[in-house]
Amino acid sequence: VIVTVTLNTALDVTYTVPRMVPGTSHRPDVVWQAGGKGINVARTLHALGRDVLAICTTGSSVGREIALDLSTAGLRFERVPIREASRRTVTVVETDSSALATAFNEPGPCLSGEDWALVQETVVRALGSATVLVLSGSLPRGLPSDAYGVLIAMARERSVPVILDASGAALTAALAAGPSVVKPNAEELFDVTGSRSLESASDVLRAAGAEAVVASLGPLGLRAMTTEGSWTARPPVVSEGNPTGAGDAAVAALAVGLAEGTPWPERLADAAALSAATVLTPRAGEFDAAAYRRFARQVIVDNGPPG
Ligand SMILES: Nc1ncnc2c1ncn2[C@@H]1O[C@H](COP(=O)(O)OP(=O)(O)OP(=O)(O)O)[C@@H](O)[C@H]1O
Ligand SMILES: [Mg+2]
Repeated sequence: VIVTVTLNTALDVTYTVPRMVPGTSHRPDVVWQAGGKGINVARTLHALGRDVLAICTTGSSVGREIALDLSTAGLRFERVPIREASRRTVTVVETDSSALATAFNEPGPCLSGEDWALVQETVVRALGSATVLVLSGSLPRGLPSDAYGVLIAMARERSVPVILDASGAALTAALAAGPSVVKPNAEELFDVTGSRSLESASDVLRAAGAEAVVASLGPLGLRAMTTEGSWTARPPVVSEGNPTGAGDAAVAALAVGLAEGTPWPERLADAAALSAATVLTPRAGEFDAAAYRRFARQVIVDNGPPG
């Protein structure tokens, strides 16, 4: 089973109104679903028919709504009950306006030492049957910046490969524990290394302990830099749609590749096809299945630099 961990789980609420007018009241259409990057990865793996377990923190009544949505979605999940309430993210979408969506992201809970101990116990238990551990997203307040490093060390002790999708201090502090794959986007990669070149930035992360670096490059695709070589996967078309969460789809495909030991060029092509097909759908964790099959035949993988 592929195990995903979401430490900063969210209830993603979307309000749709014709037009938002500050200082007035609105009657939005409301949809909500459980969110957070690890949950999005788990949704994608579930839709692919893969055996997946989503471990997520849930606190208070927001946490109960998150659990309810995961049950409805038929996802196998394990809650780690935490003391403070899980966060909500509220996105306001305007149908009669070309304005971008407006987001309100709550700061989220502060985890206690007991919460963190319970997370670790839950992950250790799940590692017994895990083929890959997926660690995605920001760290909630209260956790040490090397929290991902601690979980990676537990997985590596049990010979479970780990894919890490994090940024900033949560990424840098986890490298020494030796993640199998890290998946920053180009901005995150340049931000943590201070470098402006993909190759030299990835050398920095690999020298610090990452076994392989896969940089996601938006419409330009993906670049993998590994001990076996470097490859670029080029999407066939630039998909129009919702690029938020495309990185999570790429991580889902890379997790499958890691679980099955697929050769890098194939693994990268699959990640490019699946993430491009995800851009075509509005909701996180969903993808256009027909487009995925079509893109899978069209992605080009070579050794040349992207762009
Ligand atoms: N417009 C697009 N057309 C085709 N493929 C795309 C497009 N945007 C993104 N992708 C694919 O999705 C992958 C991930 O996108 P991106 O680099 O934006 O990730 P990200 O910034 O980590 O996203 P997020 O964190 O919101 O999930 C890219 O590497 C690429 O393969
Ligand atoms: Mg990302």
